Amino acid sequence: MKKSIKDVEVTGKKVLVRVDFNVPLDPKTNDIMDDSRIIAALPTIWYLIEHKARIILCSHLGRPDGKVVESLRMTQIAERLSQLTNLPIYTVSDCVGARARNAVDKLRNGDILLLENLRFHSEEEANDPNFSRQLAELADIYVDDAFGTAHRAHASTYGVAKFLPAYAGLLLEKEIRVLGNLLTNAQHPFAALLGGAKVSDKIKLINNMLDKVEMLVIGGGMAATFLKAQGYGVGLSGVEADKIELANALITTAKKNNVSIYLPLDVIVADAIDDSSKYAIAPISMIPGNKLIVDIGPQTIELFTENLKKCRTVFWNGPMGVYEIPQFSRGTKAMAELLANLSATTVVGGGSTAEIVTEMHLGFKMTHVSTGGGASMSFLEGKTLPGVEVLMDE
Ligand code: 3PG
Repeated sequence: MKKSIKDVEVTGKKVLVRVDFNVPLDPKTNDIMDDSRIIAALPTIWYLIEHKARIILCSHLGRPDGKVVESLRMTQIAERLSQLTNLPIYTVSDCVGARARNAVDKLRNGDILLLENLRFHSEEEANDPNFSRQLAELADIYVDDAFGTAHRAHASTYGVAKFLPAYAGLLLEKEIRVLGNLLTNAQHPFAALLGGAKVSDKIKLINNMLDKVEMLVIGGGMAATFLKAQGYGVGLSGVEADKIELANALITTAKKNNVSIYLPLDVIVADAIDDSSKYAIAPISMIPGNKLIVDIGPQTIELFTENLKKCRTVFWNGPMGVYEIPQFSRGTKAMAELLANLSATTVVGGGSTAEIVTEMHLGFKMTHVSTGGGASMSFLEGKTLPGVEVLMDE
């Protein structure tokens, strides 16, 4: 267990809080498309306001690669945070140096300052100790609430904790508790529902879950590699040829561990990944050679539903089909609706799966929707997250 923000006196203190405000922005308008990560940081922010700390928030936004990119400034994030809290959020045009120091000096107890995008400095991702020290000099205490970035050993998530007493924020604590319970304390039967494009992205996760779950339910693009491994033709669907053997090995290990693997029985096939493309249902034994899999089919939805309904814990990561195209999003939507209405513990991995659940307004019906895409995967793969490891132990 790591020391929590609740273990330290914060009143009147300058508290540097690393949050993950790396929210998706509309490529055309640059508007915030999903503010879940900002909302998820509110409990820590409110805690610090109530305890009259001087709050210095810092985050990255996008991947500006060490340069100032106007569209990735934190200004609109500050505006959204201000709308959500109904409080002024001060901003400053840098995250270190004289301007940042002056902005911090002006803070009164309970005030909130949002520093400029950390990744405008290449030293952030390089975990440069001098940059970490400069960040640390702004504050008395460091709080890490950026679970979504905890798998990165960067200056603001890792290096800075060497210069300041470092505590876990309330979101980070919750993520570790809920995801940690999946690994060590899940209620059974426990299923992992996995989708997404590539098997290679999920191999480590599957390996780490095989002695923890009773069911592995596989849809999405990655199902094609498993189907191919089972001897089915998958038409033009993307198959990771070098992972076919591995898919077979996973199926064998699963059998040994008494883990039931559910693969699609039928799929939706189309000429192309295109919203004007013709599509049809095909049983997996009859996938036409000139078509590709774009979603799971109705029989598969039934199979998955019937089995997931038996579970007391379900972890879900990855869409079941090409979610962006409405005709190919039915399988994913069916799984989201199903999980939202189960009385089981339902945990949704971050990234695109979390965005889908949020877009469908179902987040509040899940036990937990993680704010970390890569971070939740790393954690469930059994890796130590640098941003957590560096915090002070209880
Ligand atoms: C994320 O969105 O997964 C985190 O904010 C980390 O972002 P990164 O992948 O650009 O490091």
